[in-house]
Amino acid sequence: MSVTLTTEDLIIGGKRVPSATGKTYETLNPATGEVLAQVAEAGIEDVDRAVAAARQAFDEGPWARWPAGRRTKVMLKVAQLINERVNELATLESKNCGKTIRDATAEVKGVAMCFEYYAGAATKIFGQTIPVYGSGLDYTLREPVGVAGQIIPWNYPIVMAGWKLAPALAAGCCVVLKPAKQTPLSALALGQICLEAGVPAGVVNVITGSGPLIGAALVRHPGVDKIAFTGSTEVGRELMRMASDNITRISLELGGKSANIIFADADIAKAAEKAVIGSFINAGQDCTVRSRILVQREAVDEFTRRFVERVQQLRVGDPLDPKTEIGAIISPQQKARVEEYIEIGQHEGATLACGGKTPDDASLAHGNFLLPTVFTDVKSEMRIGQEEIFGPVVVVIPFDTEEEAVRIANSTIYGLSGSIWTRDIGRAHRVARKVRTGTLSINSNDSVHLEAPFGGYGQSGIGRELGMYGIELYTEVKNIYVDLD
Ligand code: NAI
Ligand code: MG
Repeated sequence: MSVTLTTEDLIIGGKRVPSATGKTYETLNPATGEVLAQVAEAGIEDVDRAVAAARQAFDEGPWARWPAGRRTKVMLKVAQLINERVNELATLESKNCGKTIRDATAEVKGVAMCFEYYAGAATKIFGQTIPVYGSGLDYTLREPVGVAGQIIPWNYPIVMAGWKLAPALAAGCCVVLKPAKQTPLSALALGQICLEAGVPAGVVNVITGSGPLIGAALVRHPGVDKIAFTGSTEVGRELMRMASDNITRISLELGGKSANIIFADADIAKAAEKAVIGSFINAGQDCTVRSRILVQREAVDEFTRRFVERVQQLRVGDPLDPKTEIGAIISPQQKARVEEYIEIGQHEGATLACGGKTPDDASLAHGNFLLPTVFTDVKSEMRIGQEEIFGPVVVVIPFDTEEEAVRIANSTIYGLSGSIWTRDIGRAHRVARKVRTGTLSINSNDSVHLEAPFGGYGQSGIGRELGMYGIELYTEVKNIYVDLD
């Protein structure tokens, strides 16, 4: 049965408005297949309207001109309003992307913290004074880059909206945010919260609809100064080409196929327990997921026994049940893509140790569910060892020496995250230096800290988000020289 809850308008110039054509589309609940809401389907004209609103807000409005501390206050208000609505926002997010309510709740709280962090950062964007040859004074200003077009994916919709909006707003930029077509609701809710918190009209605009249509138009738009994108490497490559027309600044946070390197001297029980989340967080739809587990040969049997036993206990089911550990996959198409990789793995000769199919539970039949899947006896060069699957599938690859582990870890086109498990402190830091990746953790699978840089080597992307590095994406450096004579 279909239930239409609301009609969600775009946010342009401080107002909720329908698309110029009046068109809408249905957004679904991936756990039930039901219609969750009717959402405005933006077209090219709406991109033009949104960019014009952002342009005007940037060129003539108060946001970039206010003392930074005034932006701080408004951003703290955004954080407060998010915290007051954690349950409402988390339920919306869980329903729109099929993720567990447990994760969604933590994520929404994390978005409030992201606004708090960048609220504080707004007053700490410093220039330099530079001792130049000659008698004058040389100094730099860090100025907002201007209008930012931001395109985000469906796997962490509100988190990605927060990571994009908060540093841009702190820097004094104005924004056109385009959420993924499948998951527009939390970005619209966050945009609405920004308006309620006192972000001036036109500073935050949210347009919903097709990536290839409005996303591409945003990237090509001459009124946009900077593009920030999170999504597939395939689309990132395309956007880089498009951005070259106007030399639009672009930062990319793309795919990954990260290694979880487990040496035989590690605490294998802990490594196996933590690998469960490290591999299957968000049903594996996570760019930092450790989707290749490299285990030193002497420890492979013990690791695999412990790991597979725990994976088989994972509760797959209704995302709104607080006990659920693995929710739904975003769409039937994405589920089919993951299932194709499960077939490929079997054809390539890997051993299917568990999962590999839809759960039996009849109550899940209308949703896009898959059991968490582990392949063992995998060779690094197999397709399932190289390609980003973006679902609940992990591969176990044995290795013998430290050099071999590093070589395998560095053998993909990606370089986003990774882990090293060992009790040998020298080895931990030695290997950490050799792995070509943007973020690594030692005896842990955590990748993301709001205060620390996050981003990729290789085809995992360009630029660093989060921390004060995230501010650099949204500022230009201006050098000023003053003759003192
Ligand atoms: P995608 O990269 O196509 O979508 C991400 C965003 O880009 C969405 O907002 C989408 O509307 C927009 N987009 C798509 N085509 C565009 C275009 N031509 N111009 C401008 N914007 C465009 O990701 P998709 O197709 O949903 O997923 C496919 C695969 O991408 C996944 O299986 C996964 O491997 C990878 N992916 C990686 C993510 C990450 O965080 N690294 C996030 C989402 C997907
Ligand atoms: Mg796509």
